[in-house]
Amino acid sequence: KAIHLSDYRAPDWLVDKVDLDFSLHPSQTRVTSKLSLRRNPAGAPGAPVVLDGDGLTLVRLAIDGKPLAGPSFEATPDRLTLAHPPADAFVLEVETLVDPTANTQLMGLYRTSSNYCTQCEPEGFRRITYYPDRPDVLSVFTTRVEADEAEAPVLLGNGNLVESGKVDGTSRHYAVWHDPWPKPSYLFALVGGRLAKISDSFLTRSGREVELGIYVEHGKEARAGYAMDALKRSMRWDEEAFGREYDLDVFNIVAVSDFNMGAMENKGLNVFNDKYVLATPETATDADYTGIEGVIAHEYFHNWTGNRITCRDWFQLCLKEGLTVFRDQEFSSDERSRPVKRIADVRALKAAQFTEDQGPLAHPVRPETYREINNFYTATVYEKGAEVVRMLKTLLGEAGFRAGMDLYFERHDGDAATIEDFVASFADATGRDLSQFALWYAQSGTPVLTVSGAWDAEAGTYRLDVAQEVPPTPGQPTKKPMLIPLALGLVGPDGRDQPLTLGNVPVGNGVVEVSEARQSFLFTGLDARPVPSLNRGFSAPVNLVSDLTEQDRVFLAAHDADPFNRFDAIQRIALEMLKTGARTGSLPATEALVTAARAILADTTLDAAFKAQALALPGEGEVARELAKDVDPDAVFAARKALRIAVGTALEGAFATTYSAMAATGPFSPDAASAGRRALRNLSLDFLAVTGSAEGIARAKAQFEAADNMTDRITALAVLTQHEVPEREAALKAFYDRFERDALVIDKWFTLQAQIAAPGTLDRIKDLMLHPAFSLGNPNRVRSLVGAFAATNTTQFNRADGAGHDFVTDVVLTLDGKNPQVAARLLASFKTFRQLEPVRRASAERALRKVAETPGLSPDVADIATRALG
Ligand code: ARG
Ligand code: ZN
Repeated sequence: KAIHLSDYRAPDWLVDKVDLDFSLHPSQTRVTSKLSLRRNPAGAPGAPVVLDGDGLTLVRLAIDGKPLAGPSFEATPDRLTLAHPPADAFVLEVETLVDPTANTQLMGLYRTSSNYCTQCEPEGFRRITYYPDRPDVLSVFTTRVEADEAEAPVLLGNGNLVESGKVDGTSRHYAVWHDPWPKPSYLFALVGGRLAKISDSFLTRSGREVELGIYVEHGKEARAGYAMDALKRSMRWDEEAFGREYDLDVFNIVAVSDFNMGAMENKGLNVFNDKYVLATPETATDADYTGIEGVIAHEYFHNWTGNRITCRDWFQLCLKEGLTVFRDQEFSSDERSRPVKRIADVRALKAAQFTEDQGPLAHPVRPETYREINNFYTATVYEKGAEVVRMLKTLLGEAGFRAGMDLYFERHDGDAATIEDFVASFADATGRDLSQFALWYAQSGTPVLTVSGAWDAEAGTYRLDVAQEVPPTPGQPTKKPMLIPLALGLVGPDGRDQPLTLGNVPVGNGVVEVSEARQSFLFTGLDARPVPSLNRGFSAPVNLVSDLTEQDRVFLAAHDADPFNRFDAIQRIALEMLKTGARTGSLPATEALVTAARAILADTTLDAAFKAQALALPGEGEVARELAKDVDPDAVFAARKALRIAVGTALEGAFATTYSAMAATGPFSPDAASAGRRALRNLSLDFLAVTGSAEGIARAKAQFEAADNMTDRITALAVLTQHEVPEREAALKAFYDRFERDALVIDKWFTLQAQIAAPGTLDRIKDLMLHPAFSLGNPNRVRSLVGAFAATNTTQFNRADGAGHDFVTDVVLTLDGKNPQVAARLLASFKTFRQLEPVRRASAERALRKVAETPGLSPDVADIATRALG
């Protein structure tokens, strides 16, 4: 059933405090909860107490210590109702039994590697005990956890440890944790198990000594060092960049191997997918290291943006997620290279969010209706949500943005807030009317900005004519014009920015504001025809259509003062070639791209990481998205392969030189500069081997064997797997033998095989699903094999015979009985099916219909199937 933002009502009952007692047991964990309930004066008068549940077994109920029976309450697995509460304030004691071992959904209390852990966001707490499980009910939690000491020597909860000891005369022990900060139930967590700990400490700027702990499986302690380092850097950065300090005496992180998403910001007790904690040079790539740094930072930053200020309801999810993604992106930019980070973020935004916005699952950053909230942890809420915050900063400037953030923290600390509260903080702090800007939260779809220029040599003026249009999206046929901050520069023939003057007024910050459907900007005082560099730094998440020529782009790729637009210019040159190649079956002349690429490779002012980003051709998904309709993935693949061969062949000498020049000079280090050199070297390797020549294959094989780190080894293996050569199977086997005991590394092995663009891949995947290292019960395994296939192997997933589509929907249906969230994610890979050519489109639609018509679907999968079919 659909839930609407406009139906929001304040809770009828509040919980002033809650005392929880868990007696952990593999199949019968006893949960006793004492809720201090109080009628909300702002709720409906005389309302009953209605608590959420999900599959619960009630054992006992008491009010103010007196057992309750019979008709005074109604308990179903999904709800506990007291139609006639005895008073306006009382203590309700509820005892339930839950089975963590049988919990394959990994929501609520479950087991992972025989340890106990919880995941409650968004609606998992109701799978543990009856509770008003909504984010606007904040309470002070005290949690006692008891377990067999041998089974669970480590017992963790939210907040600070206040007591622990043995349970007399038994093999059990207990710990009591108290969290003084009121919080909603989705931030609750407990962990119990056999875990090793690495410890450190952090001194906040006001002098609080915080004990830091990262818990991992025994034997993996040495792999958590980088995560700990990232945590301490995050804590310092939030003090410096946002003035935010940590507020408890303990901060614990637990790494688990069965987790539905990346990580969870539970108060004082973050639980992580171990993929985002564990790293050694031999097992983790540079991308893994950046991922760890980013996710550790993200969850830590939630302590203020998410926990101290939480969301009023789940429609406001972007209030904490978009803002926190923005904060973690800024952190990584400060720690590494800002332009390179921006390029990587925009690449990811376009690949995931622009694609989502263009298909049947498009929704606003703040949705207005949902059937299953778990399906709204999306690129739109997270990544576009971050872009909206970034635009706010661009519009208000550094100082205005900081003033708005400060006011937001000051006004709303302790609140369950809304997007309106957030926007009002910035409007009030700066005096600016942000009502048009707020459309970014409400209107879905990627705006198209069409720009053309007119040069008047006599007057020395350049007129920019801008038109904006937001395409129709599900439920939103027509749109209003948006407020779009367009950063730009006018690049003169010497490659330098000419003055940016509108009328007589200099555009100080280099940003013009587009607010109407059509608008012109007349720039004056120019002495030569400029080439406009538009949407610098990707100042707005729009699809830009401009009248720049290929020649203009070659010029910008070589000279633009904005590094993002140098990247964008060369990418756009390649994209236009790829589109033509895919449409017509043959590539146009590639000279312009080769020229631009050569110049970038040779430019000694650019860092290696930037060059690697600029020279990596747009992916198949981006080409398909740009083509938008009647896409034949085989044609896109062929065009891209042909272009890679053209560039690789034309620049063979330069790539060979770069390959040698970028070789490591010292021991492995994960820092950004070293990672950049590896990236450029590995990109060169890829181009050198792209034809599958004996020499190229030999080079890849040599690197595969000699590598002293995972980045170099896996890239060499990826190069080998693209070619049908005997070295491929030998290398895959050697890799497996070397890392067979390391599940996270075997995930990479699964992914590479899932990505092979050849007809044999589907059978290979079916075989791999029977491999002992694979398990449908583990989300990381499913994502790395089946998820990677559906999301990235465009030719095989979209096989013309429909076998790829049928395979994925079969897996979805099998998985749905175990883990609906992961099943629904997997099904969402169909979101691009409407852009396919008719035969493949029909096959995808048939597969989706089959899912939609299957009886007994989870709400998660049913929701995706229905919306995808439209
Ligand atoms: N709040 C977590 C994060 O962004 C993600 C939780 C996602 N939960 C879910 N059920 N999908 O860090
Ligand atoms: Zn988050």
